[in-house]
Amino acid sequence: MDDDLQEFALTGDIAQDVRQRIGLLRHFDSTGQLPFFQQIDAVDTPFVEVHGRKCVLLGSNSYIGLSTHPDVVAASVEATNEFGAGTTGSRLLNGTYSLHVALELQIAAWLGHEQALVFTTGYQTNVGTIQALLSDDCLAVVDSLAHASIRDGVRLSQAVEARFEHNDAEGLAAVLRSHAGTRYRRVLVLVDSLYSMEGSTAPLEQIIDICKNAGALLMVDEAHGIGVFGSTGGGLTQRNGVAKDVDILMGSLSKAIGGLGGFVAASRDFIDEIRLSARSFVFSTSATPGAMAAASAAVEIIRSDEGSDRRSRLERNSRLMREALAPLDVALLQSDEHSPDWSPIIPIRLFDELRTALSWNQLRDAGVFVTPAIYPAVSIGKPILRVCMTSELSEDDVLSSAELLAKELSWALVDA
Ligand SMILES: Cc1ncc(COP(=O)(O)O)c(C=O)c1O
Repeated sequence: MDDDLQEFALTGDIAQDVRQRIGLLRHFDSTGQLPFFQQIDAVDTPFVEVHGRKCVLLGSNSYIGLSTHPDVVAASVEATNEFGAGTTGSRLLNGTYSLHVALELQIAAWLGHEQALVFTTGYQTNVGTIQALLSDDCLAVVDSLAHASIRDGVRLSQAVEARFEHNDAEGLAAVLRSHAGTRYRRVLVLVDSLYSMEGSTAPLEQIIDICKNAGALLMVDEAHGIGVFGSTGGGLTQRNGVAKDVDILMGSLSKAIGGLGGFVAASRDFIDEIRLSARSFVFSTSATPGAMAAASAAVEIIRSDEGSDRRSRLERNSRLMREALAPLDVALLQSDEHSPDWSPIIPIRLFDELRTALSWNQLRDAGVFVTPAIYPAVSIGKPILRVCMTSELSEDDVLSSAELLAKELSWALVDA
């Protein structure tokens, strides 16, 4: 590896791994082919400008276009003018503004939980909530594809960790049975609702039954479900009519809600516990006034008829893209029985990481900006292009992008 990597004073296997990754990163970067850390210079939803080229964005998590919605942007600007750019304080001290409290009340009422608590990011929400609720005398049972922030929270909590195969409800029941003889202070099952890379959804009804039978608590990460599913955009738990059966509901303010932050909604007892002991909540500056006001405005839209219309357009585009790609022998994931009948996340399996990087470049040059995912975001040796739909794409955008995807990816696909 390069001599200039000597500056990294690392030792052992970690050093080797980090050096290899940095070496690869610098190689791709020096040839202008690195598909990560791409600089976006302008946003004109659903298009972005990258390297002076206008590209249609197929990688946004702003599923219903709220990150650039005029009312959301205006709310953010107004709050920034009124309260300043930041709070400069933890929620515990001088960082709780009326905007945080109002958003928490709004979220709790919307999702039907007693209380809600807003964090500065969704990542901090998972890490802090799990660390606050669990300790080394507890058991965490985690879906094998649950988000990294869930896994990091479990690690930080020092709880005993057990995993079950992705979406395997029987596997979950078996894990819980195998621990039935051990007395834990708390047993917490942790799943995502809509899996961000796979586009699959958790079999919530089965998981809820299993948790109830085993006396386990259930925490569902709705980062990608909120705003996308449900009659008022309350997520997959709302769509499936099981919101009341989930003990702890986590959401992000940074995907469909379009801004930045995260929240947890639960009973008053759980929220008090989290509020007092989540380290990522207590020891970090609270979310900016602009972020809080933007999220409040976005939630209002999500719950309104306009939100429903946007969700309908998202569904139309998602179905259209999947239909357009289906005859082209593209290896779409999401074939398991728990996949929803539609999902905005349409992952395409590619052959290897090199071909993923190269085909990503071809697509960008052709005017399509899509998200590549390699290990550790997905399993090792199973890279994907994560095609993601939004309500703001026209039918024409969807169909012409599908054509380009089929044309530019044909040499890099694995068999369907
Ligand atoms: C399933 C899931 N949970 C949590 C997070 C973290 O949320 P945020 O991006 O708001 O920090 C993400 C973000 O990628 C996610 O995909």
